[in-house]
Amino acid sequence: MAQRVFFATSEVYPFSKSGGLGDVMGALPLAMHKNGIPTTVISPFYGRISTSNYQIRLTITDLPVGYPWAPITADVYEADYHGVSLYFIHRGEYFDRRFYYNDPKGDYFDNAERFIFFCRAAISLMERLGQPPAIVHAHDWQTALLPAYIHFLRRWNPFWEHTGTVCTIHNLAFQGRFSSRLFADSGLPAEAWNMNGVEYFGDINMLKGGIAYADAVSTVSPSYAREILTEKFGCGLDGILRSREADLHGVLNGADYVVWNPDDDPYLPCRFSADDMSGKRRCKKHLMAELGLDPELADRPLLGFIGRLRGQKGIDLLNSIIPELMRLNVGLVVLGEGNFVHEARLMDLMEDYRGRLAAVIGYTEDLAHRMQAASDIFLMPSRYEPCGLTQMYALRYGAPPVATAVGGLRDTIVPWPSDESTGFIFTESEPMAFLAAIREAVALWTEKPEYWQSMMRRAMNQAFTWENACKQYAEIYRRIRLRI
Ligand code: ADP
Ligand code: GLC
Repeated sequence: MAQRVFFATSEVYPFSKSGGLGDVMGALPLAMHKNGIPTTVISPFYGRISTSNYQIRLTITDLPVGYPWAPITADVYEADYHGVSLYFIHRGEYFDRRFYYNDPKGDYFDNAERFIFFCRAAISLMERLGQPPAIVHAHDWQTALLPAYIHFLRRWNPFWEHTGTVCTIHNLAFQGRFSSRLFADSGLPAEAWNMNGVEYFGDINMLKGGIAYADAVSTVSPSYAREILTEKFGCGLDGILRSREADLHGVLNGADYVVWNPDDDPYLPCRFSADDMSGKRRCKKHLMAELGLDPELADRPLLGFIGRLRGQKGIDLLNSIIPELMRLNVGLVVLGEGNFVHEARLMDLMEDYRGRLAAVIGYTEDLAHRMQAASDIFLMPSRYEPCGLTQMYALRYGAPPVATAVGGLRDTIVPWPSDESTGFIFTESEPMAFLAAIREAVALWTEKPEYWQSMMRRAMNQAFTWENACKQYAEIYRRIRLRI
């Protein structure tokens, strides 16, 4: 494919990241590039991005963006990241903020405007660059209006006539649903305002726009692709997703083993690998000292949890069983931020179990690496999980996960008991089921150390590479190009 694929995303690691989307957008374009699919990334330029670190250059000033009625302008910064071209769209009033989408008080009031502006600026930019894209690939609600815009542009603007579109859902729960008033601002034609378009119970729903108008829709694991067709996991969009079933794909994410490699991780006090795991014990002792855990617990399993402190991640399930866990005489480390109620509960529990439970509220990239390296057992009781990257990192860092049987967790963990097992899976999102699975893991760790070592080795040797995903996306693009 000589023409380019353009990714549109609200996060791209290492420039911006609030979760797995950032990680994916940092790794997938590079992998595409290596697999012969030239990919360009368009993302917002947030005020917190430093221009000096990656030689980011301001290359376009005052790019006209027809938004909302009277044209306003964007500046465009450019960077080259390991051969991938990145374009960053800047407009201070929208993107020079401390956080990406919300502050502690809640979502930014103008999120709809910010991302309508971003999508329309991306259209202007691609036109300015001069060569029609082969594929525009949008990720999550923030960029999901792009397939809708292109669907209508294709009718009358020859520039877009042969551009195909993909909308990838990284998390169906976040849809970008706003008051109908914003529909007029979106610049979409009136015919998009119907139940098969962007309209959703009288509101505008941006992700629904992507699902309705993209040539293909995908999500980030095969199991989640099946789950979202059901009422239980469909977040109110299962109907429109079922109507697109023939064009819906589940492409499992990969992990970036350059960034997440215990054998070459600059954040760790010592390195280790499947062939020589001795460094892992040192990492554990080091982290226990760093977080003030009782050194006597070094001979007991250390449990770890990293993630957004929200219902999705099952943090309430974990909080509710902490007293029982403590009776198992284990250490527990938690890193996350999110819902104030869960944060406060963790702080209270930490008072009760000082020396055995350490909870760090905040977002700290380096600590996340050290916690993966130090943990013996990784906890991931998600209620739903489109893919999940933290369990993939835990596997690579020799911390077999205890996880719910949902989405990407069931696609990446081979449950015990089996000769191939790499972790523990429980079916019901219930505290007692979670506790029972942890008990099983702790018993195995304690009573069968040799088996545990072999499980760790298997876990560390799992490879969720980006190459497979690239091949699948290439095939999706190829099929779209045959149709348009
Ligand atoms: P999600 O995208 O749903 O949050 P993933 O498992 O796909 O879940 O990715 C989460 C990413 O965010 C991982 O890179 C993880 O290490 C990181 N992460 C989550 N919470 C924190 C935190 N509090 N501090 C540092 N990194 C975090
Ligand atoms: C979302 C999902 C997570 C997935 C990530 C990257 O944040 O919650 O499961 O791994 O996107 O696709």
